[in-house]
Amino acid sequence: MDQFKGQPRLPKFAVPKRYDIRLKPDLSACTFAGSVSIDLDIVADTKFIVLNAADLSVNSGSVCFTSSKVFQPVNVELVEADEILVLEFAETLPIGEGVLSIDFDGVLNEKMKGFYKSTYEHQGEKKNMAVTQFEPVDARKCFPCWDEPACKAKFKITLDVPSELVALSNMPVIEETVDGPLKTVSYQETPIISTYLVAVVVGLFNYVEDHTSDGIKVRVYCQVGKANQGKFALHVAVKTLELYKVYFAVQYPLPKLDMIAVPDFAAGAMENYGLVTYRETALLFDDKHSAAANKQRVVTVVAHELAHQWFGNLVTMEWWTHLWLNEGFATWVSYVAADSLFPEWKVWTQFLEETTEGLRLDGLEGSHPIEVEINHASEIDEIFDAISYRKGASVIRMLQSYLGAECFQRSLASYIKKYAYSNAKTEDLWTALEEGSGEPVNNLMNSWTKQKGYPVVSVKLKDQKLEFELSQFFSSGSHGDGQWIVPITLCCGSYDVKKNFLLQTKSETLDAKESSLDEIRSAWVKVNVHQTGFYRVKYDDDLAARLRYAIEKKYLTETDRFGILEDSFALCMARYQSLTSLLTLMGAYREELEYTVLSNLISISNKLMRIAADATPELLDYINQFFINLFQISAEKLGWDPKQGESHLDSMLRGEILTALAVFGHDPTINEASRRFHAFVDDRNTPLLPPDIRKATYVAVMQRVSTSNRSGCESLLRVYRETDLSQEKTRILGSLASCPDHNMVLEVLNFALSSEVRSQDAVFGLAAVSKEGRETAWTWMKDKWDHISKTYGSGFLLTRFISSVVSPFASFEKAKEVEEFFASRIKPSIARTLKQSIERVNINAKWVQSIQKEKQLAEAVKELAQGKY
Ligand code: BES
Ligand code: ZN
Repeated sequence: MDQFKGQPRLPKFAVPKRYDIRLKPDLSACTFAGSVSIDLDIVADTKFIVLNAADLSVNSGSVCFTSSKVFQPVNVELVEADEILVLEFAETLPIGEGVLSIDFDGVLNEKMKGFYKSTYEHQGEKKNMAVTQFEPVDARKCFPCWDEPACKAKFKITLDVPSELVALSNMPVIEETVDGPLKTVSYQETPIISTYLVAVVVGLFNYVEDHTSDGIKVRVYCQVGKANQGKFALHVAVKTLELYKVYFAVQYPLPKLDMIAVPDFAAGAMENYGLVTYRETALLFDDKHSAAANKQRVVTVVAHELAHQWFGNLVTMEWWTHLWLNEGFATWVSYVAADSLFPEWKVWTQFLEETTEGLRLDGLEGSHPIEVEINHASEIDEIFDAISYRKGASVIRMLQSYLGAECFQRSLASYIKKYAYSNAKTEDLWTALEEGSGEPVNNLMNSWTKQKGYPVVSVKLKDQKLEFELSQFFSSGSHGDGQWIVPITLCCGSYDVKKNFLLQTKSETLDAKESSLDEIRSAWVKVNVHQTGFYRVKYDDDLAARLRYAIEKKYLTETDRFGILEDSFALCMARYQSLTSLLTLMGAYREELEYTVLSNLISISNKLMRIAADATPELLDYINQFFINLFQISAEKLGWDPKQGESHLDSMLRGEILTALAVFGHDPTINEASRRFHAFVDDRNTPLLPPDIRKATYVAVMQRVSTSNRSGCESLLRVYRETDLSQEKTRILGSLASCPDHNMVLEVLNFALSSEVRSQDAVFGLAAVSKEGRETAWTWMKDKWDHISKTYGSGFLLTRFISSVVSPFASFEKAKEVEEFFASRIKPSIARTLKQSIERVNINAKWVQSIQKEKQLAEAVKELAQGKY
């Protein structure tokens, strides 16, 4: 049976058609017993049946295959390394239908994978609930199965659970029989679905309920007493289902949709068919204590998971190589839904954050193509990353802008219809779009999904001719030889003067006269209009100066202002451009008021502040002063208190601006924060500290905390312990380590790993470590590595520890040290992230060196700090 070991995919001589599964979880012993009967089609001569199973104890005596007669295996082996169950029979099994039966037992684990235990409090008592999380490859930890997305089958589920509990699965209940303390609940059979979408939840819950206009019952379940917090998500879900039905031109295929908040949850949410599970922070909204950013998160996540009910659940990727079809697409289409529900949120402008994160990861040599080869199950977790999600969503957006919204939607609808209840590959989507548009979509898109990276397009103006030159962009400053077909768009002097073409070669020249770009002599030229393309643009000095002027004069849209800044930052890091010129450009944004632009300006300022602390510590105060000046106008406009009827974006912006001012050391902000915080500590409902400014206030308070002045931190921990709102806990966790005192950083990191913080949340404690605490965090992680690595096993949460702690460093020595530390601790599930994080450190180190060589920097920074732009 060795031929079955070490294979990425199961052999295909038996095809599952229908599973009849019975599970009996024991919530106090944290175990479960189960049995499964699987209707199979034997399609090739075989003495073996090979399926997936892991962490289960299979009762060998129970295993049998029944067709023309009963076949008992002569050998039953569970190969843990390959997560397969190999059944060997004495004779060749007859071709045709049969039923495979297996009894098994398992443990309700604490790893938030497979069939697991989550805990909550009810009336002061600690309780357990049982929850499933199967994506990508953990259904096999709950029942033996063909655990591959292409092995779709019908599922008939029956649960034996304590009678007082709520027991949910993908489909509605058909029968419930109570027998004393236990009840048996059976559910309607599902249509054919992939194993990773099967779900079960058992616990105590309340719910709120509504219906779509065509009668689909939608419920939001949450902990007892929190049902009101589910109302907002319920409203969003009903509206979104109605919208997708029109957009995809296919009905929601199941009779009901349940959405449930699970207190222990590794990802943000999971799109199980008909039973979507969420972190509390991604589903619940509290009118009094949730922030605008929390509200937007709920909308984004609900819209994303519901998109999967079509894109992913109805039409499923054929293999994990095409994961991006699920995730990239759901990410993109969630913006279509959010934009339709909340047009004033300008989510398509905010989409640029997705593109930016995609570009930043894909600028590394350690990136990977959107379509990525998968050789072992343990590699799958790591590709739920910014490439699959954000680059994926961005290339879809690029294609949609190129083809046009209507044609794109029509083609999508026919793709969904064609592959419903089936599986598809990337090229199947391209073919549908090609047929719908008449454009060579396959050819165009292969260059974006089959190779990693992206181009930087250099634009020069010479003798009234625009010269375009394409090369592969790397954040390290090296050049690659990738080739892309780039949809170039440009505007000249006005958004009415446009030109589009496909750049298919290394270089191209555009004659301004022939293209009727009459103003080219003096007007601004913006390439990649509205940033719908997944590439960067580098302008010659003359064109760059014209754009800077256009920004100051407010000629450009917010998307283009965003793009110019972001590209300039990336080019600076890659050492194509000086820090002096980047800072000068940033000065042109001093009157900026748009949320998305300012939000990126803040994030860039933070990164520059950190790099300057390494490269030119003597200039740090000036640089901080310059950044504080940059945000003055918007800070004054927004103030501390919400204005009646103000926009959602202003509410979000206020918090981000105040946080930035606190981090850059703006004393008046820190003082005011401290005053408001005191009022809040005395009265949690004080109007002085509305939810949108809490995180900023906490960060400001932590700036003054030290081991000899701990009261701010202690008050925050008290709020943490007392609140039962997850979003409040997250805000606090995310601010503690911003403290400049490294001893305090050590304390709060220990707190993050303590039993007071759910293990799903510990990484939030690492998100905002102050520059002073960077080294402490690294030492701490090394100390705790065995524990961390054991607690988080192979999940993606483990990779977050590495990227948060390692990436901020900026020296070659540190890169080496990290490499040496992990040399003996490497495993497949962290390999990619580790490589990327070390690459980031090396890039930062090179950047530091080049900044130190910049001659005009000191003088320029001093002038900028005095407000001379
Ligand atoms: N399918 C994923 C959940 C998932 C992630 C399962 C990683 C297994 C591993 C789900 O649809 C998802 O993408 N959730 C996102 C939220 C979304 C709004 C980007 C998440 O969990 O962050
Ligand atoms: Zn998703």
